[in-house]
Amino acid sequence: MLSTTTLIVLAVSGIAVLVFRRNRLRPLPPGPPGWPIIGNLFDLQQEYPWITYSNWSKTYGNIIFLRALTTPMVIVSSAEIAFDLIDKRSAIYSSRPTSVVDEMTGWGFSLSLTPYGQRWRNVRRITHEYLHQMVTPNYRDKQTKHIRAFLRQCLGDTGRQCNSELIPATVFDIVYGITIKDMDDDYVKTVIEALEVVEETKVPGKYWVDFMPLLKYVPQWVPGAAFVKFAARSRPVVEEMLNKPFDAVREGKTVNDSIALSMLAKIELQPDIKKREEEEMYARYATGTLYSGAVETTFSLLQTFFCGMAMRPDIQQRARQELDSVVGPERLPTYDDKDRLPYVQAIYMECLRWMTTIPLGVPHSVTQDDYYNGYFIPSGTIIIPNAWHMLHNPEDYPEPDKFNPDRFIKDGAINPAIRDPATIAFGFGRRHFAKDTAFLVIASILHAFDVKPSIDENGNELDPTPQLHGSLVSFPSPLNYRLISRSEAAEKLVRTTEL
Ligand code: HEM
Repeated sequence: MLSTTTLIVLAVSGIAVLVFRRNRLRPLPPGPPGWPIIGNLFDLQQEYPWITYSNWSKTYGNIIFLRALTTPMVIVSSAEIAFDLIDKRSAIYSSRPTSVVDEMTGWGFSLSLTPYGQRWRNVRRITHEYLHQMVTPNYRDKQTKHIRAFLRQCLGDTGRQCNSELIPATVFDIVYGITIKDMDDDYVKTVIEALEVVEETKVPGKYWVDFMPLLKYVPQWVPGAAFVKFAARSRPVVEEMLNKPFDAVREGKTVNDSIALSMLAKIELQPDIKKREEEEMYARYATGTLYSGAVETTFSLLQTFFCGMAMRPDIQQRARQELDSVVGPERLPTYDDKDRLPYVQAIYMECLRWMTTIPLGVPHSVTQDDYYNGYFIPSGTIIIPNAWHMLHNPEDYPEPDKFNPDRFIKDGAINPAIRDPATIAFGFGRRHFAKDTAFLVIASILHAFDVKPSIDENGNELDPTPQLHGSLVSFPSPLNYRLISRSEAAEKLVRTTEL
């Protein structure tokens, strides 16, 4: 008879042989060695994860494997690999990680955070119906009106405060037909609070409940159940952000045209009550996705623009020469001028690249076992594209830390041989409907204002060079810039141009 010890040794050896053979046949991509059970959970928790992951790619290559408890993760550091997986294999790479945290805080409604399924299909259908290339020009009048109002506000301001107002005002108008008075408006305060919730929860590896869903059942009173308390406190704020403006439209409290109004008009035609309720829920999620997706991203991009300009008066000078010859002193720029303003376009492209707004992209999830370059990628793996690394790769963008729009210009035109940062910064493959929204703000500011470094109480200029901070959406700081109108003629043009 074999002893119990011998049986255990035989069983463990058998499992080890099976695991070894399986791993030999299905080799995972390389990556930092993890700890037993928790895997790489602690490795994920970094202050500037995009930089740590970028350094890892020097050791492990452009496709890195990690494990957070039982959840497999792959960090992709090359644009080619990201396109191969997320774009060319989109049939199995378009889902999003299932997140207990998002469901608990109420953020699970957002299309960018929704795994494949019926909800994803419906919210995506509605969102894209209102944002595809053919309909986005319909929003240009409202966008232009808000940009012009913003320019007028900037005449008496440092620009920082009114920049933060511009985006919520435009988005609330387009999505809900609601007029935002200022940053103290209740609607805006709620959005900001709700966005802080999602930023807090998207610090990689911070909340273990995403990797150990049973933790959600820990009662609030148990010491260490901080997340459960945080989620309970946050949920009403997120729900208010989602429902309050939508309900205002539904109850006829708004008068202007809006995406929500148009959605509701279509839903009214649905004879089946159950289907109508369902469609209304998807419409809420779609409108919520729109403005939560637009506000922080565009704000961050514009702050990058202001910092870059305050650092480089020579670049502003060149942009102005282009604007003076194409637009002239009699009017402000419009969207139609875009193709004739390659240098302004290059500035916009460099802003997208330099302080990458979403440095680690929006994570995807693979819905089926897959192989790439001989490496095994198990179903359920979270795919994190390190967009910051791709946009700071010195082979594609020499001296990547320098703000240098000239890298995109050849013979006075955009050089098609240099990769357009938009193909990475907005996700891989699908055309992003917001690709051009910030362009007109940038062109208008350059046409009418000088962006200069701020000054301290002794009149000395502060260093405007920023650093990137944040988690899902990141922001440059400090913000040491101010706006001064270029000339009396420019100031008059701003004051007198309404639309
Ligand atoms: C600088 C500005 C912006 C950047 C860098 C940005 C970036 C991104 C990225 C990386 C994704 C995920 C793409 C993917 O992985 O599939 C995304 C999704 C999305 N963004 Fe933006 N975005 C910006 C502005 C906006 C604006 C202004 C809007 C609203 C009009 C918007 C609405 C959305 C929506 C609805 C999605 C989800 C699309 C889907 O999953 O099908 N974004 N954005």
